[in-house]
Amino acid sequence: MINVCLDGPAGSGKSTVAKAIAKKLDILYLDTGAMYRACGLKCKKLGIAATDEKAVKSFIGTIDLEIRYIEGAQHTFLDGEDVSDEIRKPDVSMLASAVSAHPCVREKMVEMQRKIAKSTDCVLDGRDIGSFVLPDAKYKFFVTADPKIRAERRFAELTAKGEKVKFDTVYKEIVERDYNDSHRTFSPLVRAKDAVLLDTSSMTPEEVVDFVIGKIEEK
Ligand code: DC
Repeated sequence: MINVCLDGPAGSGKSTVAKAIAKKLDILYLDTGAMYRACGLKCKKLGIAATDEKAVKSFIGTIDLEIRYIEGAQHTFLDGEDVSDEIRKPDVSMLASAVSAHPCVREKMVEMQRKIAKSTDCVLDGRDIGSFVLPDAKYKFFVTADPKIRAERRFAELTAKGEKVKFDTVYKEIVERDYNDSHRTFSPLVRAKDAVLLDTSSMTPEEVVDFVIGKIEEK
């Protein structure tokens, strides 16, 4: 089974690269962030705080969350509804970061991710894929970039989608999420010891893809 792990902070460019690599290798792309985003959205829909572990515990065991592939693209379904666009909103990003800190959420999502990775060749992107979800995977990368540059990329992405956001807010949220994601006690954002470190600050997406493919071919 081919499993390529791409971990890194928000806006590092890992999803663009993961998609391109999956296409090049003709294997599945699993965006694990989408799963945590759906859990964050569920909190919003239920009107509970994503930080309230007890309340989160009451729904997570039976959450109706499904990842489907439609014409090659990943779609996230929550309670039977396609929420792929809704989960990209900035408020859901913050909820995802908060809800993902609870071990009960991580256990449930990791179980789903391992099941997919075991049965399908795939590229997975996230925060803890190489360090926790698939520690024995052969191909691991830790993708990062300067926080200002990551905020610029996220700002351009949101603006292109018609979201009315301020750069300073996007930057502040990136810094806050970095902190949350790397300081949670259970399975934080961390570079696996055997992951190849890649700083994409001054690289184009094409350069990053070529670098990763090159490293995979070397192995
Ligand atoms: O990659 P993303 O921005 O879509 O992820 C949203 C949030 O989900 C992120 O702030 C932290 C969490 N996450 C995680 O804890 N573990 C993963 N494997 C992927 C995402």
